[in-house]
Amino acid sequence: MSKPLIIGNWKAYVSSLKEAKKLFKDVEKELPRVMDADVVVAPPHPFLYPLKTSYSGKRIAFGAQDAFFEQGAHTGEVTAGMVKDSGARFVIVGHAERRAQGETDLQVAKKVGAVLDAKMTPIVCIGEQSRDREGHYLKELETSIQESLSLVEASSLKKIVLAYEPVWAIGAPLPPPARSIRETIIFIRKTLALRFDRDDALRVRILYGGAVSEEVVEELVSGSGANGFLLGRASIDPKMFADIVRAWNR
Ligand code: PGA
Repeated sequence: MSKPLIIGNWKAYVSSLKEAKKLFKDVEKELPRVMDADVVVAPPHPFLYPLKTSYSGKRIAFGAQDAFFEQGAHTGEVTAGMVKDSGARFVIVGHAERRAQGETDLQVAKKVGAVLDAKMTPIVCIGEQSRDREGHYLKELETSIQESLSLVEASSLKKIVLAYEPVWAIGAPLPPPARSIRETIIFIRKTLALRFDRDDALRVRILYGGAVSEEVVEELVSGSGANGFLLGRASIDPKMFADIVRAWNR
């Protein structure tokens, strides 16, 4: 099994390159010397290249928060090739905050394809808007998984990472109970196993994201069945970020 993966999504939280450099330096300093997890930081696009080029270490890898699927007349878009050249090895695709801007599963699918073509690892975000007792949200998740991965060849599942992020937990005070995350992750693996190789579906890394903090991290590490976390707010608090990484050291 691959190591757990912790990815810090800085969103648009940092206001300047100076602030981004300071945050990166503080994160680097706080991280434990020995880590049992892969650590990725995803700064806003313009800060990727300057951070990457001023960092000579190996402990932290870089990710982009999004990448467009096609070159050409697309004002304002940043393609997979561009973020790769700026230093990204991972790309978050289909984050709920992008989907809320109108990004569809089909667009997510094209982005996943473009990220794979550029030989980077897509972190494909999926998650229900809300929960209902009858379990309709599972159908919503299933459709989103199938459509977001519709262009992924069977042999490529092992090259991707999924992030289960219930939309209602992003930015919330608390995540769902670990047990319920565990059940949903099992459901996601079952959904993947219907379309991909069963062993690959069991092995693919599935992260959890949404309201992860140092208060709940122990419970989530031991009980959620996740293979790491996608962090928002906690990623811009160097001490909390490091504590969350440390929680995977056993
Ligand atoms: P949060 O965000 O950790 O601030 O809840 C998670 C995310 O958006 O991935």
